[in-house]
Amino acid sequence: MAALYRVLSRTMPVAVRGSGLRAFSYQHIIVAKKGGQQNVGLIQLNRPKALNALCNDLMTEVNQALDSFERDAQIGAIVITGSEKAFAAGADIKEMQNRTFQDCYGGNFLAHWNVICSVKKPVIAAVNGYALGGGCELAMMCDIIYAGEKAQFGQPEILLGTIPGAGGTQRLTRAVGKSLAMEMVLTGDRISAQEAKEAGLVSKVFPVEKLVEEAVACGEKIANHSKLVVSMAKEAVNGSFELTLAEGTRLEKRLFHCTFATDDRKEGMTAFVEKRKANFTDH
Ligand code: HXC
Repeated sequence: MAALYRVLSRTMPVAVRGSGLRAFSYQHIIVAKKGGQQNVGLIQLNRPKALNALCNDLMTEVNQALDSFERDAQIGAIVITGSEKAFAAGADIKEMQNRTFQDCYGGNFLAHWNVICSVKKPVIAAVNGYALGGGCELAMMCDIIYAGEKAQFGQPEILLGTIPGAGGTQRLTRAVGKSLAMEMVLTGDRISAQEAKEAGLVSKVFPVEKLVEEAVACGEKIANHSKLVVSMAKEAVNGSFELTLAEGTRLEKRLFHCTFATDDRKEGMTAFVEKRKANFTDH
């Protein structure tokens, strides 16, 4: 893992390598394309001295990188990771320390954190180390969470005299149920990777040094499917968080019908019947 992070640290900004992505020079993140077909976008949070505390500039850069990957036709999935010690230790407390109600409310503080929720391509969080406060919330905004076996998840805002502000009370409760979410939010206690797995917060736990490659492998598997249909599947699953069962199943049915307007649905079924591998074209 350390080796992978060293390699990532040496990686030039993607645009510099002529990838077609928009040119940004990033200060707090490292961006690369991974996978055999370079079809998985990797965003590594890289503010090690502050344990990847999510300052305003870092989140702005994450949004720019997400936008670049979203526009890149080659990319079929995105992985967000941090370091071995910290995915992210939360929103930047030093940046928030002197904020007032007036500028939080008046300036809609942290509104730009929601950008990740509108990304159509699947986003996988690969969490090693601390995922606390906004770090846990950022992971929960992703579509899949993989954890390294030493990961720790928590919503410790109560210890700072505040509460989660980027979905922690809502997404955590939906993921792990009321009792555990309430306990974590009210005590500030953390849970381990294994507890997070048992509670349904993360789907898989890996050895620390294997985590990112496993997340990229998952991203590759997804990226090899029809990107169009993958986005429809993601939209349908996400509908379950917002809609009644009747509305959700209606949305699902409509999206299912929509797949019949695609070349990829035809190719997928034809390939099955012809006993060959499907060749999806994202049309
Ligand atoms: C700013 C942070 C930080 C944070 C750590 N650092 N977390 N800076 N914001 N959230 C900085 C420390 O100040 C320190 O820098 C350096 O990172 C290393 O941290 P240490 O505390 O010395 O490390 P350690 O002893 O290993 O403890 C690790 C830790 C602890 C348990 C993760 O740092 C910690 O409790 N951090 C705060 C976690 C937290 O409360 N998160 C929620 C934030 S509120 P210096 O320069 O001082 O040495 C939040 C609200 C979200 O997220 C609302 C919506 C987004």
